[in-house]
Amino acid sequence: MSRIVYVNGEYLPEEEAKVSVFDRGFLFADGVYEVTSVLGGKLIDFAGHEARLRRSLNELSMPEPAAMGELLEIHRELVARNEIDEGLVYLQVTRGAPADRDFAFPGEEVPPTLVLFTQSKPGLADSPQARKGIKVISVEDIRWGRRDIKTVQLLYPSMGKMMAKKAGADDAWMVEDGFVTEGTSNNAYIVKNGKIITRNLGTEILHGITRAAVLRFAREAQMEVEERPFTIEEAQQADEAFFTSASAFVMPVVEIDGSVLGDGTPGPVSQRLREIYLDESRKVAV
Ligand code: PDD
Repeated sequence: MSRIVYVNGEYLPEEEAKVSVFDRGFLFADGVYEVTSVLGGKLIDFAGHEARLRRSLNELSMPEPAAMGELLEIHRELVARNEIDEGLVYLQVTRGAPADRDFAFPGEEVPPTLVLFTQSKPGLADSPQARKGIKVISVEDIRWGRRDIKTVQLLYPSMGKMMAKKAGADDAWMVEDGFVTEGTSNNAYIVKNGKIITRNLGTEILHGITRAAVLRFAREAQMEVEERPFTIEEAQQADEAFFTSASAFVMPVVEIDGSVLGDGTPGPVSQRLREIYLDESRKVAV
């Protein structure tokens, strides 16, 4: 069975789905995206992802796609048609395809491009990586200054991931002016004496939807949370570390730049938060 994807109002087999070579997403990385995970055939944190998409579009003065009011139905339709039990839905909006390549934004006559597709990932919740924990390295953060907007400019995060692989690690945490900003595709945390520490929100990091939920659950469970920047050295001295994202939920980190945390296995706070996040999000999944 061929995967069914959504392109500008149509559900099509992936081989038949097409976007113009003049699309500004392709030529200028002039696009924004969202990744929503699917557990038990249901969408996790959908409302948060939809709200952040609206904000990203607004921050870039990008028109909303005509189907903006139908995004939940489109997500559900794709999950159903592709029989996704565990996996994700990827959504991208670009500033459309004008007649020629031009740095200036096109006028209102050019509609935005809307594409959605699914990726099946059996075993997403019961992940072997989450049981083992992952290794990160630090790399310099040389991305642009509006990381709070979820744009498709992902070349540097991809390079960070490759630098990590080359160094025998799994992922990279980015550092700017001596402080960790975030992971290549996730938000970064450390735990010291039971306190959860993660960078405060600003234009330096993406405002993770998983981050918001995890911090809310942590506070509800009477865990102490401090939102402030931390250094790699502080992280290496921490009791635990972890990261959060829609595709990895809460992922324990057991090694930072070759320095092993604790006994090198996922810590109790990270494990508990993963469990709480999965349990609570499943309850309200749509
Ligand atoms: N990435 N920071 C960055 C730079 C990210 O790319 C992501 C998500 C996050 C976590 O945000 P959320 O909890 O809303 O997923 C933080 C997605 C999963 C991706 O690019 O695949």
